[in-house]
Amino acid sequence: MDKCSYILGIDTSCDDTAIAILRYDGALCADVVYSQNEQHAEFGGVVPEISSRQHLQDIAIAIKNALSEAKLDPKNISAVGVTFGPGLVGSLLVGVQFAKGFAQSLGVPIVGIHHIEGHLMASYGSEGYPDGSFVALVASGGHSALYKCDADFNYEILGETRDDAAGEAFDKIGRFLGLEYPAGKVIDELAEKGDASKYIFPVALRSKSTLEYSFSGLKTSARLLIARLVKEHGEIKGQVLFDVCAGLRKAVVDALLDKAFLACEQEQIRDLVLGGGVTANSFIRSEAISRGKKHNINVCLPQKNHCVDNGVMIAKAALKRILRGQSSDLSFGVDANISIVDSSSTINF
Ligand code: KG4
Ligand code: ZN
Repeated sequence: MDKCSYILGIDTSCDDTAIAILRYDGALCADVVYSQNEQHAEFGGVVPEISSRQHLQDIAIAIKNALSEAKLDPKNISAVGVTFGPGLVGSLLVGVQFAKGFAQSLGVPIVGIHHIEGHLMASYGSEGYPDGSFVALVASGGHSALYKCDADFNYEILGETRDDAAGEAFDKIGRFLGLEYPAGKVIDELAEKGDASKYIFPVALRSKSTLEYSFSGLKTSARLLIARLVKEHGEIKGQVLFDVCAGLRKAVVDALLDKAFLACEQEQIRDLVLGGGVTANSFIRSEAISRGKKHNINVCLPQKNHCVDNGVMIAKAALKRILRGQSSDLSFGVDANISIVDSSSTINF
């Protein structure tokens, strides 16, 4: 790859058509996201059929816009990276099929990227990103898990959620509170005006040495509290709403970070990489940095808009693999449930 090489990153794993163009030296040239939040809002969650149809409508125009944002022609693209799993099968298929056609027509390599590997690479290239082994916390709408990772794309799962993901818990509790979907960001904003000590929510598995998570108890306790508050106040609004959100946010963040720092201690690793939509949360960001300072652990956070799904993280992961001479055969397929342990399964070594 030379100085004029550019890589196209595509993620259509869930409800965002996310496209990015990255120059080989890491310079970001385009970052385009066609969000489907509006289409799914009335259903309180992502409807797979609507999602795949919307990706089909948006993908060509999103790529065209990314190319014009980068002031490039398709022929300037030297490689394509695309999410092949996990995610919604119909949505993944749109991105992968489009990426294959695009790469084949240009005669350039393609790399199938695991979505979680993408989240782990969202801060790759930034100052402090670890060169060696690190612990990673990925907290999103679909995942809440801790991994041990190395620079050669080897991953070990240290612990996962037993039930809901952290973002899923925010979204479901947000629905009880009458907030719009996805609720994580709204709860975060409302929590800024609240007092987290007013309503204390349970943090599951806190005293145990396990690295697993569980958010279903939090959901039940929030549902019961909300029912009681509605009885008392008629409607949850104003300071009561702010305080509930602050309590919820604190419980989720404490749960996530307690185990993340415990994982660093157990693995004797001093680098912690965060990623996934929930790591856009203002409290998890400030708390992770202050706990990192306290425990002498280097904490790496993606910029806020690269915590949620984006094409940049996929382009970064693909670039890292391409620079190591790795790419995929055009025969690879999508895999809705693939584990990160098998993230190299599309790679043609
Ligand atoms: O990574 P992402 O875009 O998609 C998945 O791969 O799941 O994460 C989306 C999730 C949603 O559940 C959303 O509510 C949550 O991330 N989220 C947040 C914030 N921004 C997005 N949760 C807490 N605080 C935020 N600021
Ligand atoms: Zn994601």
